[in-house]
Order: sequence, then structure tokens, then C-alpha cells
Amino acid sequence: GMPVEVDISDVAPGTMKVVEWRGKPVWILRRTPEMMASLAKTEANVADPASDKIYQLDMPEYAKNPERARAEHKEILVVVGICSHLGCSPSSRFTPGAQPNLPDDWQGGFLCPCHASTFDLSARVFKSVPAPSNLDVPPYMYLSDTTMVIG
Ligand code: FES
Repeated sequence: GMPVEVDISDVAPGTMKVVEWRGKPVWILRRTPEMMASLAKTEANVADPASDKIYQLDMPEYAKNPERARAEHKEILVVVGICSHLGCSPSSRFTPGAQPNLPDDWQGGFLCPCHASTFDLSARVFKSVPAPSNLDVPPYMYLSDTTMVIG
């Protein structure tokens, strides 16, 4: 597949944009400082905090940090928006706090409507839900502060 160049200058903190890469949706989320701080709070609740299980053979090294992002812009999360369970499309839920059908200490993240798998703001899967693994991080790099290339 061809690499996809993306202008991220219009992605405000706390919002994400969706682009298509290899026929798949890729989410680009610019996390706020509060969202970044939430990652430490979910650390104990996610099944694979360091993304070190072997399930994505070409997972970039930078996807194994808690932020799962490149050092230049640790606040920007880039993930393939396809549930690792049976391939549904999770929805975003960025409001922290207890809500029905979500983990008690919900800090915001992503929720799969098909079988209720939940993911944190680094797309790391919570324990005790059907999805077996964190969402995939595609290879990407920055051309500038406002332009990235996926693939
Ligand atoms: Fe997402 Fe089953 S497809 S939880």
C-alpha cells in the first residue's frame, strides 16, 4: 500500500481525525495533558501495559511505551481503529468518570459496541474483556510538526 500523508494542523487537543490507510481507518488523536496523565492511572487495569505480547509482527518500537507514540509528539496517538477481537469499529469516549457498562475507574478511551471491549487513551485493552490485545499502531513518521506520513 501507498504511504498516506496527513495534515494534522487541524487536530485540536482532545480531538481526533480519521484517515484511511490500506483500506483501514487510522485514528489520529491529539491528547491533552489530562489525557496523558490518565495513562498512569490505567496502567494497572490494562492487560498488556507495555504492548510486549507478540500479536502485531511489525509493531514499531515506539508503540511499546505507555504513550504508544513517537518521542517527537508523545501526545499524538496513531492507531488502527479496528477492534482486536472480531474487527468491529470501536467508538471514542473521551469523558472520564463512571458510566454504565464501563470500568469503574474509566479515564476515557475507546469502547467497542460489539462485545463491550474497552481501551484506554493509548488504545490498550482493559483486562476482563474479550479483545485479546491492544490496537495496532501503524508505522508512521513526522515530516514536520504539522505533517505526518503513515505507512
Ligand atoms: Fe470488539 Fe468483539 S469485536 S469486542
